[in-house]
Amino acid sequence: MHDSMLLIDTDPGVDDALAILMAHAHASVLALTVTAGNVGLAQTTTNALKLMEIIGADTPVYPGCDAPLLRRPEADASLIHGRDGFGDASLVPAVREPENEHASLAMLRLTREHPNEITLVCIGPLTNLAVALKLDPALPRRVARLVIMGGAVTGRGNYERVPTEFNIGFDPEAAAIVFEAFQQFDLVDWEATTRYGIDHGLLQQWFERGDARAKFFEAISAHARRANIERGRQGLMAADALAMAVALDPEIVTRAETRHVTVEIEGRLTRGATVVDWTGFGGGKSNARIAMEVDRQRFETLVAAALGVQTDD
Ligand code: RIB
Ligand code: CA
Repeated sequence: MHDSMLLIDTDPGVDDALAILMAHAHASVLALTVTAGNVGLAQTTTNALKLMEIIGADTPVYPGCDAPLLRRPEADASLIHGRDGFGDASLVPAVREPENEHASLAMLRLTREHPNEITLVCIGPLTNLAVALKLDPALPRRVARLVIMGGAVTGRGNYERVPTEFNIGFDPEAAAIVFEAFQQFDLVDWEATTRYGIDHGLLQQWFERGDARAKFFEAISAHARRANIERGRQGLMAADALAMAVALDPEIVTRAETRHVTVEIEGRLTRGATVVDWTGFGGGKSNARIAMEVDRQRFETLVAAALGVQTDD
C-alpha cells in the first residue's frame, strides 16, 4: 500500500491505537515517537508499548515531551479515552521498555539516516516536532511528506476554547512553529473527522469478524464509543485513523483545498484555533492541503483490514 517508511508521533489514545494498527497492517513503520496529550507521557508510552506487544511488532518507542512548550493545558482527553488512555481496560503492561533516546532527537537522527524517505504522521500535540525543529531548522528538507491530524478549519472544534481542536489547542505554540516551518503538509482536521465517523453497527461487525487486534480495539474503545454516543456524535470519531488513511493512501482524498493555515497563540477566546486564509487575501504562501472529502469505502477498508477483517473488494 505505501512505499515510504512511516514515523508516527502520537499520544495513544484510542484513535491513535487504530491509526497505529493501520500503519503496521499497510506500511513499514520506522518508529513511534510519543508525547503527552490524551493522557500523561508515562501512560501514553506504556500504551504505545502495549500496542506493539499486541501487534507483535518490534517498532522502537521513543518517549518525548511530557508537557506543552509554554502553558500546561487545563484538560487532557481522559474523558473520552479513559484515565489510562486505553479505555481503563485494565491491561497488563508490556514487558518491553521504551528507548532511551528523546523523541525529538530520534526524529532528527532517523531523518538524517533516511533522508527524504520518511512520511511523518503527527496524530497528537506537536511538541516533539517543534522541539526537533528548534534543534535543527533543516529538518523539513529531509522529510518526504508530513501529515498532521489537527485543527478545525472553520472553527468547529472539540477542545477548551470553541474554535480549537485538541492536538493544536493542547500546545498552540508548538503547532504554530510546525505550521510555519513546513512549506507543505496534509491537514486532516476535526471537522473532516466528524464527516467520516465510523458507524457503531459496522464496528460491531468488525469486532465479530476480526482477529485479536479487533478484540483488543473493542476492549480499549468501549469507553470512547460510549462517550461518542453520549455526545450524539454520528459514529466513532476516529480522527487519527482518518489521518493515517490519508498518509497511507493519498488518493483517498477526493477533494482538498490548499490554503495558508496558521495558529492563533494570543486570543483570549481563540488561542489554539487554526486560522485558514480561505480567500487568499492574507498573502501567506499556502502550506496546507486540507482534506475536505475522502473515499469512505477505501477508508473503512483500510481500517477493517487492520482489525483482521477481510472485506469483499
Ligand atoms: O482532536 C482529535 C485528536 O485529539 C486525536 O489525535 C485524538 O487522539 C486526540 O488526541
Ligand atoms: Ca491522538
